[in-house]
Formats: sequence, structure tokens, C-alpha cells
Amino acid sequence: MKTFFVTTPIYYVNDRPHIGHAYTTVVADAMARFRRLRGDRVLFSTGVDENSQKNVKAMTKAGETDLNAYLDRMAEAWKTTWSSFGLSDHAFIRTTSAEHRAAVERFWKAAMESGDIYQAEYEGLYCTGCEAFKTETEVQDGRCPLHPNAELQSITERNYFFRASSYRDALLKLYEDRPEFVMPDARRNEIRNYVKDHFADFSVSREAKSLEVGIPVPGDESQRIYVWFDALINYVTVAGYGTDDAAFADIWPADLHLVGKDIIKFHCALWPAMLMSAAKHDAALRDVDGNAKLPRRVFAHGFFTIDGQKISKSLGNAIDPVELAKGYGDVGIDVLRYFLLRDIPFGEDGDFSRERLKERYVHDLANTFGNLLNRSVAMSRKYFDGKVPHAISHEPAYTFADERGVEALRKAFDAHADALRFDLALETLWNGIGTGDERRFGLLQANKFIEDTKPFQLAKTDMDATGVILYSLLEYCRNVAWLIEPVMPTVTRRIVEQLGQSFDEERTKDIDALVSWGGLRPGSALPEPSILFPPLDRG
Ligand code: MSP
Repeated sequence: MKTFFVTTPIYYVNDRPHIGHAYTTVVADAMARFRRLRGDRVLFSTGVDENSQKNVKAMTKAGETDLNAYLDRMAEAWKTTWSSFGLSDHAFIRTTSAEHRAAVERFWKAAMESGDIYQAEYEGLYCTGCEAFKTETEVQDGRCPLHPNAELQSITERNYFFRASSYRDALLKLYEDRPEFVMPDARRNEIRNYVKDHFADFSVSREAKSLEVGIPVPGDESQRIYVWFDALINYVTVAGYGTDDAAFADIWPADLHLVGKDIIKFHCALWPAMLMSAAKHDAALRDVDGNAKLPRRVFAHGFFTIDGQKISKSLGNAIDPVELAKGYGDVGIDVLRYFLLRDIPFGEDGDFSRERLKERYVHDLANTFGNLLNRSVAMSRKYFDGKVPHAISHEPAYTFADERGVEALRKAFDAHADALRFDLALETLWNGIGTGDERRFGLLQANKFIEDTKPFQLAKTDMDATGVILYSLLEYCRNVAWLIEPVMPTVTRRIVEQLGQSFDEERTKDIDALVSWGGLRPGSALPEPSILFPPLDRG
């Protein structure tokens, strides 16, 4: 079985995780969970980019001098955030680790043997904020437009260069032959233009004496490897490159690199060029036809602002995602995950506002989903002696959904999730499938179905019909619970338990059994309900 391999960028540790980092990571986690629940073996990786001058600067600013202690502490801080975030099973890579260094050395030597690394004199302007040299066209008023407060460094050095220019045609062909390599479409045009007009050889090392961090160039201790060259290799390190050839052969190439739009040049141009180069001299990086094994898809998402403003340290507006979630009780992390995935069309820029998070909580979660579940469970318990009702008659007018309905819902949900449009996948669950008055099988329609069929009145005259109605609502909630698992795993657990089932036992079943009509046993006990999304106590 091929392993589905999804990655997040590795984060600089010049700061603690904020909501922008949480966004990339949550999308990756949702994708990992989505594939896992559908039966795939999954490798999900994240980690920290440690060999950067940015980290050293941040340490110095914090008044510290012991770099290793600083890096250890920050790596722990990131790990702790992700574990509080309930991230599913994942690999966490540090680029100061011995495995990574071994992988980088092997990769460098392979590219060297391919003749793509050579020495030359270089003079240029370097932006530590971007960790990149800036070309004349990228500089405005002598400054980097992305980091206008930082001085550009003027550097004249003899460095190692990577022969990027000789991969220009191969890259253009890659975007042509495999358009899904760069998603979404708008980004593909941007990257194509960049490669066509600007992708030139560039420096991939710096003098060791001018840097505090970085992996030494194999065979030349006077130079250290450029941080991006090192960082991109993390994706093969975690897959076993250099340490476990069998695992690597099974796992590589990555199925999905998730990145922000700020770093697509590195992922969609430099990285495949590096792989093509090293693959010439390293069979582990080639497929059976002798071609470089390249990642299948790089998906770039947009950038986040907070209340319309860029997230920045100097503005002090960075939001700690774990703190934010605390305002929403014991399912707070799920609430935030729901918001991040639901509110922003994947690939587009988005704005975060506490106000809209609250609105979504109240409308989508508490009033629509929570209310439906709570009413369905409470009425079933009340009229059917604390149990799941026996659905005796099968009058279609009294059944909210059926096998066909949940199948259609799953098909729509899966198609959107596969395309990374969790926003549309979730919208489908709430708004149903179909159009206009024909929309069906959504949570909103389920609430309306209660109003239309009035089981609370029918219970006085027709227990059969009441049973059919309530059974269909409970069973529908169970199906939706399994569909939303990649997005709100704790909520799924809570719903399944409220329906009197064991989450852990159910989770061993495959998705076709979980999302199908009739999984709830009539007559089984329904525990005392508890409110899933309680009213917010703040004004
Ligand atoms: N270390 C590099 C990545 C190396 S990957 C081989 C890096 N790190 S970073 O910490 O600066 O940013 C990593 C990612 O965090 C960005 O690409 C982006 O995915 C995410 N975001 C950081 N700030 C963000 C927003 N304000 N909005 C959305 N995503 C943001 O670049």
C-alpha cells in the first residue's frame, strides 16, 4: 500500500506559532485525517527550520546567548502547541538533527556530482527576512518590500552556486505536463512567468565565518549551506532518505506539499530543480523509468490578515491559536479548526476576526448543528424510554435521509476535500446538495424537517411516525459526524458517544461502513445528552 505523504512547511523558530502557522498545519492535519479515515496509510510531517539567521537574531533580541538551548526550547514550544492542537499522528523534524544533516550531505554530493554545483564570486543584496538574495527588480528604494524595516546586507563572497538555469526548460515542461503540480491555477501562471524570466543560477552557500548557523558544505568547512537548500531537503529526510532506503522508496514522492503563497518559488521551482539534479546521481531519487521522483502536488494557500492588518510582531497582533480556542470550551480547538477551514476559500487570502469566529460559532455550530443533535437526542429519550427509536413504518415523508442521501453527501464532500476545498465540503454538509428549493440532506434542512414534521406533536398521536422521524435524524447526525471527523475530530467523538456508541470501536470500521444508513441500532440506550456547543457567556 502506498503511503499518502502530506507536509507543512517547516517553521522558523524566531517566534511562537500564531494563527497563520496554525492555518497551514490544520489544513494538513485535516487532509491527513481525511486520507487515513478512507483507509490510506499516511505520513504527515511538520517541523522547524533551525539553520536560519532569523532564529539567531531573535535569540539575541531575547537577550540569550546559548543557541542550542534556545533552539531546544523553541522546538518544544512548537511541539507543545501542536499537541495542544490535537494534531493527529505526525513526524516532527528539526533541521539540526543528525539524520537531516546526513540527508543534506548526501543530497549535496549528488547534485555536485551532477555538475550542478560550482564556485563563483558573488555580489548581491541579501534580505535576512526572506533568507534570500534580492534581484534589482525586487528591491524598492533600497529595501525589500516584504521587510521594509530591515537593512539589506550587501554581500561580496566566493560561494557555491546551483546551476538552476539548466532546469528552466524541464520546469516549464513540468508545469505543462502536470498542471496539478502547482495549485491553484493563478499560482501556476505566476510561477511559470518567474521561471521563464527570472530563474537563474544562484548562490547556495555562504562563508561560514559570517554565519552562526548552517550545515557545513561537505568537504569545505569554510562554507555553510544556504538555509533554503537545507530546509527543502527536510521533506526527503522525514521520508527516510539517507536513513531507511526501503521506507523512502515506499513513501517518496510526497503527495502534497502545503505552503503559503509567499514560498511557492522555493517549492515549485527550486525544489523540483534540486531533485532533478540530485536524482541524476542518486538512484533513490529516481523512478523506474529513470526520472526524478517529484512531489505530486504543491498547493499554495493565501495569506491571513487580522482585522484587515498584516500579522506582525511589531504590531503585536499575532494571535496564539491555543489561547483563542480556550474561549470556546472543551471543543474550542475544533471550533477554531472549523472556522479556519470553513471561512476561507482555500487558496485565497483571508481575514481573521474574532467577531466572525463568534458568528460562525453561534449560527453554524450552536444553533444549527448542536441544536439539531440536542433536540433529536432529547426527543428520542423522552418518547422512546431513553433509547434509539424503533423505526417501524417506512413512510418516506417521515425519513429525513436514507442510504442514497448519505452516499450523495459523501460523494460531494469527498470531491471537495480531495481538491482541498474544505470550505465547500463543509458548506455542503450545512447547506445540502442540489440547488434552490431542491436542496437536500443538509443540516439546515434537517432543522427545517423538524419544524415541518413536528415530532414533538406527532408523539401524541403517531408513535410509529415519530420513531421514523427521530431515527432518521439521529442516524443522519451520526453520518455527518463521521464526515466532519477530519475537521472536528473531538466533536465527532462527542456525537458518537451521545448516540450511545463507542467512538474507539466505531473508528476501527472502514468509511463505507461508517458513512452508510443504519449504523445506529434501534433500541440501544441513549445517554443523558450534554450540550455540544454551549452558549457563550461573554457579551
Ligand atoms: N522556514 C520557511 C519554510 C521552509 S519549508 C521548506 C518559512 N517559515 S515561516 O515560519 O516563515 O512560514 C511558514 C509558513 O507559515 C508560510 O509559508 C505560511 O504557510 C505560514 N504563514 C505564516 N504567516 C502566515 C499568515 N499571516 N497567513 C497565512 N499563512 C502564514 O517560510
